[in-house]
Amino acid sequence: MKEINYKKVNNKKKKIIIVSIIIFAFLILGIGGYLFYNSKKLKVNLVSDRVVNINDEVYNNDYIKNVKNGTIISDKENVDTSIIGKKKIVLKIKNYFNNIEKFTYDIDIVDREEPSIDYRDRLSTTEGVEIDLLDGVKVSDNSNEEIDVTIEGEYDFNNVGEYELYYVAKDSSGNIKKEKFILEVTKKKEIAKNISNDSISYFTTSKGFKGYTKNGITYIDGVLIVNKTYSIPSTYYTGDITSETRSNMNKMFADAKALGLNIYLSSGFRSYNTQKIIYNNYVSYDGKEVADTYSARPGHSEHQTGLAFDVNQVDDTFIGTPEANWLSVNCWKYGFILRYPNGKTNETGYKYESWHFRYVGTELASKLYNNGDWITLENYFGITSQYNY
Ligand code: DAL
Ligand code: ZN
Repeated sequence: MKEINYKKVNNKKKKIIIVSIIIFAFLILGIGGYLFYNSKKLKVNLVSDRVVNINDEVYNNDYIKNVKNGTIISDKENVDTSIIGKKKIVLKIKNYFNNIEKFTYDIDIVDREEPSIDYRDRLSTTEGVEIDLLDGVKVSDNSNEEIDVTIEGEYDFNNVGEYELYYVAKDSSGNIKKEKFILEVTKKKEIAKNISNDSISYFTTSKGFKGYTKNGITYIDGVLIVNKTYSIPSTYYTGDITSETRSNMNKMFADAKALGLNIYLSSGFRSYNTQKIIYNNYVSYDGKEVADTYSARPGHSEHQTGLAFDVNQVDDTFIGTPEANWLSVNCWKYGFILRYPNGKTNETGYKYESWHFRYVGTELASKLYNNGDWITLENYFGITSQYNY
């Protein structure tokens, strides 16, 4: 009995040892497998600063520092960065075990640029006449969002004075643009008793400029206006171009000459009667409808003001000559404007005249020059040029 018991005990011990060895082997295998798997796991390291400016050129793999245990198989592609906010980028990566995994990461698209404001730096009105200070003001921003403009500063349409104000535009990212402009409120012009025989009427143009017509002569913002809508009386006679026009013209011609250019006066002041002869001549030659596209009816020519003149060849052969090219980009420095620019017929009422210049003074001329894309008097003041007869 004792012997048998001894054997039983021995068998039990053996069993325990075998089971322990098996458990131990599994444990080793398990740990080993886990360690092996871990060392072959896909690991992608990203660049930590992933903030980009709106519309910047960015590629889908730009922010991958390195890839461990895998290769990117997605093609290099441009990322659309036109919308502000977080942007998800997905890449396909082949891992160590040859399986394809999708890896996703974010970039932050931000807008750091201020909007830009297109505006006029000086507006004027007479006391008591309200004008829309935001009329014609345009804002653009790289985010393409709609941005409102507000006005900063105090002003009073009922009080004469010069107000220093600001247009303020803010985009949704908090970038702010401020532009200074002046609002001038001038004294209401009273019709004095001693000129009560004169006919005078005041008006405001569609762009808020104050104008008046006195004895048939129209001034807007102090500028004498003659076009198809606004005439001057047949009796208006200066006999020559004004002395201010002539001295500035001579200076301009002399500066051009120093550069080897030959610019000369072809037609200056023309009386009502001279214009009548010229215009009628064109009408008999081309018919009224065609003549109206290039020649002013008597009482409607700027040549009668003494403030306008033609230079060199008074026809399209002047276009593109060194003289015409120089004048079109330099005349404003002497106070002149290219009065009938190319492509502005529907505003001026006339065909392109590369040879006709009008004196308005350097302040206005420099605004109308507009970097070569000439703004017409009609567009600037908000007036028409159409015959009503
Ligand atoms: N050629 C211009 C328009 C004039 O006749 O005054
Ligand atoms: Zn002319």
